[in-house]
Amino acid sequence: MILVTGGTGLVGSHLLYHLLLENDSVRAIHQRNSDLNAVKRVFQLYVDDADRLFNKIRWVEASLNDITELEKAFENVRYVYHCAAIISFASKDYQIMRKVNIHGTTNVVNLCISNQVDKLCFVSSVAAIENGAEGELMDETDNWNNAIDKSGYAITKYGAEMEVWRASQEGIPVVIVNPGVILGSGFLQKGSGTLFSNVQKGLKFYTEGITGFVGVQDVVKVMMRLMASTVINERYILISENLSYKNVLFMMADALGKQRPKIRINKLISAWVWRLEFLRSKISLSTPLLTKYTAKSALSNHPYTAQKIKNELNFEFEPIKSAIERVARDLDSQTY
Ligand SMILES: NC(=O)c1ccc[n+]([C@@H]2O[C@H](COP(=O)([O-])OP(=O)(O)OC[C@H]3O[C@@H](n4cnc5c(N)ncnc54)[C@H](OP(=O)(O)O)[C@@H]3O)[C@@H](O)[C@H]2O)c1
Repeated sequence: MILVTGGTGLVGSHLLYHLLLENDSVRAIHQRNSDLNAVKRVFQLYVDDADRLFNKIRWVEASLNDITELEKAFENVRYVYHCAAIISFASKDYQIMRKVNIHGTTNVVNLCISNQVDKLCFVSSVAAIENGAEGELMDETDNWNNAIDKSGYAITKYGAEMEVWRASQEGIPVVIVNPGVILGSGFLQKGSGTLFSNVQKGLKFYTEGITGFVGVQDVVKVMMRLMASTVINERYILISENLSYKNVLFMMADALGKQRPKIRINKLISAWVWRLEFLRSKISLSTPLLTKYTAKSALSNHPYTAQKIKNELNFEFEPIKSAIERVARDLDSQTY
């Protein structure tokens, strides 16, 4: 039995689709109010008879923070893909991210150990890799540096990685993937999907910060290949290309047939905007649209190399332009 956490999210739903093509015994956890139809809609992008595959999933209602529920989900499980996490750059979400991302991973790891599973694959992030000097190419050996100002999200992904390394110390074979910004269809109202939805609504602004981007299909393909391989106790950066947000937003606008954003946001403007947005969110008790860390990431130059996974699996990543065009086509075929 294979267990997937985060199956109702961007990575997890695409992963479930690919796993179900090859396996009959796939269990996925979901929370009480999860939108399972979002998973079905992702399957519909791939095949006409989405229901047949979707009905093969053995859903178990479980939160990462409820050990009794999680224990049930782990019955007879041999392989675990741990994708679930909360992604937020708002300071108000730091404690909930500690609870879900770190303590939830502690629970997953403890159950992997007590059930002696055959392998655990954890989806971390490039956020858990050291952010070195501007423009410095980072790889898997660039370890966490406490001296650098990190977002709460980065801290909790790093904390979760530490839990996964504990599993490896306890004899559980593990692999960790560290994707850059993941682009994929199906979830345009949250995470990286909001880049697409904002461009579709006529986004006017762009920034020139650089980071690594990767298509969701590549992320799940690599995860499955690593799980099937003899590779253990390694982590791999997954990025197709290092690109500026300007470039990516322009590609999205072209693919969606929209006007390219015209107004460049520099560091000075953004420093004002995130502070004003912080005040607005405090007064209106809402989530800020721009935070100190989203502003920082949108303006800094942090490239990564995925040479390690390319060498290990002889893997070729889909170019970002093609991944973006695929999402644009899917957007045309479905209304979210
Ligand atoms: N998206 C990116 O650009 C990106 C980049 C690098 C790394 N990552 C990592 O990739 C992984 C997947 O990201 P994603 O984009 O697929 O995220 P997503 O679309 O926001 O999905 C998050 C998933 O986590 C689940 N989850 C949240 N809290 C939970 C809890 N307490 N118990 C059980 N499940 C819970 C959600 O379930 P519900 O539906 O029940 O809420 C959902 O299935 C995450 O670990 C993230 O850190 C993402």
